[in-house]
Amino acid sequence: MMRIGMLTSGGDCQALNAAMRGVVKCLANSGQPMEIYGFLNGYKGLINSNFRMLTADDFSGILTRGGTILGSSRTPFKTIHEPDENGNDKVESMKQTYYKLQLDCLVVLGGNGSQKTANLLREEGLNIVSLPKTIDNDLWGTDMTFGFQSAVDVATNALDCIHTTADSHGRVFIVEVMGHKVGWLTLNAGLAGGADVILLPEIPYDIDSIVKAIEKRAEKGSRFTILAVAEGAISKEDAKLSKKEYKKKLENSKFPSVSFEIADQIQKKTGREVRVTVPGHMQRGGAPDPYDRVFASRLGAVAGQLILDKEYGYMVAYKNREIIKVPLQDIAGKLKKVPADASIIKEAKMLGVSFGD
Ligand code: F6P
Repeated sequence: MMRIGMLTSGGDCQALNAAMRGVVKCLANSGQPMEIYGFLNGYKGLINSNFRMLTADDFSGILTRGGTILGSSRTPFKTIHEPDENGNDKVESMKQTYYKLQLDCLVVLGGNGSQKTANLLREEGLNIVSLPKTIDNDLWGTDMTFGFQSAVDVATNALDCIHTTADSHGRVFIVEVMGHKVGWLTLNAGLAGGADVILLPEIPYDIDSIVKAIEKRAEKGSRFTILAVAEGAISKEDAKLSKKEYKKKLENSKFPSVSFEIADQIQKKTGREVRVTVPGHMQRGGAPDPYDRVFASRLGAVAGQLILDKEYGYMVAYKNREIIKVPLQDIAGKLKKVPADASIIKEAKMLGVSFGD
């Protein structure tokens, strides 16, 4: 009898269910008898031994369903060695649950922090197979994460909608896209949605350069300008601050986010009307798009095969159009940022997109 634990950790995204379904379908297809322990609400379920016994049938009919049937929560890696609310050592509790249930393997669907914890559990001797989830597409070792393409669709749709109203009113519009540390989502949605200015955390902006881009468009007869701004976009001045100084600045800011600060500055410098739209968690919600359904299913199938082959300690990943396995220790804790000299940035600039640099 194979005993498999499974959990979804961190911010949710589209196709988590599709990925779990892929794993379980592959295992079920092998004909091996199995027990599935679904830990509820991420690592918390493993820490508190809070699980549901599931069968292959529970994973039927969930290919298109958004969210996660297991629930999710954040257990930040930086707090992993701090005692939990009951005073217990989190890592020891997770190991105890794993050994008590005599699991053969723990399947983790997670983003950056969750992969770090998965690697820690691997170092502690647990058999782990993980899958790359996040709308941010910022996981090292994989060209793509599931959830990303669906989020690009949602953010692009927001930009498309804004385009028509921006044109009607001749206003400047800012659409704030998720991504505090990396700008893949903003970059791709921005290009797909025809944004005129794209601001990423990786490329600090100069407000005067943004204003110049707006005026240049106006001189050419455009009635409106659309900016796609990442949550983590940062000005050149702020980029010079230490982490601590910048945190303090944000805490004392009268603006709810960077987009509102940029809007205020543009309004003051140009006299133009500026509006901000924040699609927020809509970007993580709803059904996965067809790309993510296929992609997550493929990742799930390969993860299932790794379990059948008893090949543990890997995250399944996507490289050069192939699904591969990458050792957890090689990817854990590394962030895949948008390189400032990436060809997609150069091409966007050729199209006349301003990055405010
Ligand atoms: O999961 C990634 C992400 O959606 C980021 O893009 C975003 O900055 C963050 O999570 C939001 O986190 P929370 O759901 O905890 O507000």
